[in-house]
Amino acid sequence: MYSPGNDPGLVILRMKCLLQRGASGCAGPGSTPTASAGVAEPSKRRLGLAVTPPRAVRWQPAAELVAVFIGGGEESTNLYTGPLPNLEGTDQASSAMTLSTPWFLATDARAYEHFMARWSRRLAGPFLDFAGIKGGNQVLDVGCGTGVITAALAERGCTAVGLDASEPYLEGARRDRSHPNIVYELGDARRMSYADASFDACVSALAIDVIPEVDQVVREMRRVTRGGGIVASGVFDFWGGFSPADLVCDTASVLDEGMRSVRDQRKARPIVWANGQAAIWRESGLVDVVEAPIVISFDYASFEDYWSSFSMPIGQIGQRVAALPAELRAEVERHVRSGYLAGLPDGRRSFAVIVRVVRGTVPAGG
Ligand SMILES: C[S@@+](CC[C@H](N)C(=O)[O-])C[C@H]1O[C@@H](n2cnc3c(N)ncnc32)[C@H](O)[C@@H]1O
Repeated sequence: MYSPGNDPGLVILRMKCLLQRGASGCAGPGSTPTASAGVAEPSKRRLGLAVTPPRAVRWQPAAELVAVFIGGGEESTNLYTGPLPNLEGTDQASSAMTLSTPWFLATDARAYEHFMARWSRRLAGPFLDFAGIKGGNQVLDVGCGTGVITAALAERGCTAVGLDASEPYLEGARRDRSHPNIVYELGDARRMSYADASFDACVSALAIDVIPEVDQVVREMRRVTRGGGIVASGVFDFWGGFSPADLVCDTASVLDEGMRSVRDQRKARPIVWANGQAAIWRESGLVDVVEAPIVISFDYASFEDYWSSFSMPIGQIGQRVAALPAELRAEVERHVRSGYLAGLPDGRRSFAVIVRVVRGTVPAGG
């Protein structure tokens, strides 16, 4: 049986929570309810289950437990390493081609802070450590959004260019995350204007999965990075790793055909599966490719804090929720609330989220 204690490749990063409080303060049945399909549950009494809310356990934010990274090999020991299915000609492939919900609406920088930037901040350190980014490097941040990762690069002494296709997000980045070592630039990750080998490294967080032409983007990331430089990315694992979104998506999929299409499209793309990015990295000619999961915590203060994040039209789930007729939207909200509360008083909940990160090296000579 796999045991982290026996795994020579196990590297544990920033387990401040365990060090500071002991493991029981981080997680437990009463402290971190897990997300599941949030449709109204049948009465637990009818099922003969005694439901006694835990009284002694006080919820505490799991924020300090930023990441546990299991790596140290060509393939992480806990990952599926078999072949990826070929979706060509399947329903999933065709729905991915025809679905009309835009992949991402990057129009309001402040809304993005509430939706995601407050959590991508937690990803920045472990992700850049994993990528091996060092002070003094000249780094391109692709799909930089409101500049969370770009700012983290500057803080560790890099010179950084933040590239994004959204002027409103770039305005937010220039306003809130400016730094003498950063330039924010408008551009398309699929066709970058930089010369070959312009950067020591190229990174991208939570971005290449919202761009349909992902292979093209990775080829561009490789092209603009010098020989021996690192190309790295991180995206959510949509097969159970993005639990706060799944609660909304799976619940609404029961009630709404459109959300079901969104769910099926999201899950069908190998890039959001274990080793999906690694396969693209290898196909792009990058070498020494390693993929691994990073776990971060999304901590919501209340149901309102949580629901407002996923009902804003930014990602596909929020766009679909926002577009539902009022009555259906209210029904979805009622069921999602039931899943969030899980019979406990409203308040804080902490969701574990898996970001799969990949890094590869540009071969000498580009
Ligand atoms: C989920 S956000 C990630 C932002 C940031 N990296 C973070 O971690 O908070 C995805 C970003 O990708 C950007 N994006 C989408 N398509 C793009 C393209 N073709 N070229 C450059 N950026 C793009 C969006 O504008 C958005 O800012």
